[in-house]
Amino acid sequence: MAAPDTLRYAKIPLIHGSGAIPAVGFGTLIPDPLATRQATTAALETGFRHLDCSERYRNEQAVGDAMQETFKAGAIQRKDVFVTTKLWNNNHRPERVKPAFDASCWRLQLDYVDCYLIHTPFAFQPGNEQDPRDDRGRVIYDSGLTLRETWRALESLVDEGRCRAIGLSNVDLEKLQEIVDVARIKPAVVEVESHPYLPEWDLLEYCKQHGIVLLAFAALGHAMEPRLLDDPVIVAVAQRLRKTPAQVLLAWAVQRGTALLTTSVTPSRIRENFELTTLPDDAMQEIRDEVATKVRFNAVVETGVPGFIPRSR
Ligand SMILES: NC(=O)c1ccc[n+]([C@@H]2O[C@H](COP(=O)([O-])OP(=O)(O)OC[C@H]3O[C@@H](n4cnc5c(N)ncnc54)[C@H](OP(=O)(O)O)[C@@H]3O)[C@@H](O)[C@H]2O)c1
Repeated sequence: MAAPDTLRYAKIPLIHGSGAIPAVGFGTLIPDPLATRQATTAALETGFRHLDCSERYRNEQAVGDAMQETFKAGAIQRKDVFVTTKLWNNNHRPERVKPAFDASCWRLQLDYVDCYLIHTPFAFQPGNEQDPRDDRGRVIYDSGLTLRETWRALESLVDEGRCRAIGLSNVDLEKLQEIVDVARIKPAVVEVESHPYLPEWDLLEYCKQHGIVLLAFAALGHAMEPRLLDDPVIVAVAQRLRKTPAQVLLAWAVQRGTALLTTSVTPSRIRENFELTTLPDDAMQEIRDEVATKVRFNAVVETGVPGFIPRSR
């Protein structure tokens, strides 16, 4: 009898922190708190063991409620779940980092976080406003600060013990190298948009060389146009292998060595997205060679302004 396919349970070792990160992760960028709570509970019950959160999503409390409810039910313990959350742009000043981290832990109802990321390399005006704008509607950046200074504050969080691993999000290769070169504690994780329309092969290669996990968000292209889920190469592979396009895209992400994040508020899709099995080598190659469209869906990497979050939130 063939051995069971364990792709969905794959883990990638971390250079510091909680040992390893589950490759198949569930993202919590969900606007409505009740929908967040229900989707997070469904994801945990389905088998997802990595939750990706952020203070910017303004729903850490709902994610925390879902975790607590699931832990109390008894089937899953805190130690079984890898929780990532992120520092937002208005909290980059070193003296603001620990209070922001503590507030995330409080909302998530956790004693420690497995991974804490700087959500974008762009510092905004320090203060409680997450989207500070001038009277002409332009973002107010904080020019008196470097990313290195914020990184040092994250290193101190690791020293204090409640933050197991640290990393960056929405950085390009150059920005990542800059931090790797000076860091006392190197980034363990780099979270960026990545899928067959934006494969980021150079960044992935650099990450592999340095033992950094590339955590790919929008693994299904955020279901935006042009729809990756309807791409002819992806659809053909899915039909041939009797999988769904989403399952092909997610398996592809794990098999090329990234961790991934996908999100759904639909219970049947949450289950579908966890039921992954390994693609044959020729399908992996076909996706690499034949997917022709190249698109970035989220411009957050260029400005620090979140692409998938409406302005009013
Ligand atoms: N670091 C950053 O700046 C950053 C930026 C963006 C996202 N993220 C993280 O990455 C996570 C994932 O990103 P994402 O929301 O773009 O994920 P995604 O999985 O690429 O896209 C989610 C969209 O795909 C749909 N979908 C999910 N499964 C499907 C399936 N099997 N078939 C068809 N459609 C499906 C969902 O619809 P339904 O919900 O209606 O089912 C939803 O509209 C976020 O939640 C967040 O944690 C991070």
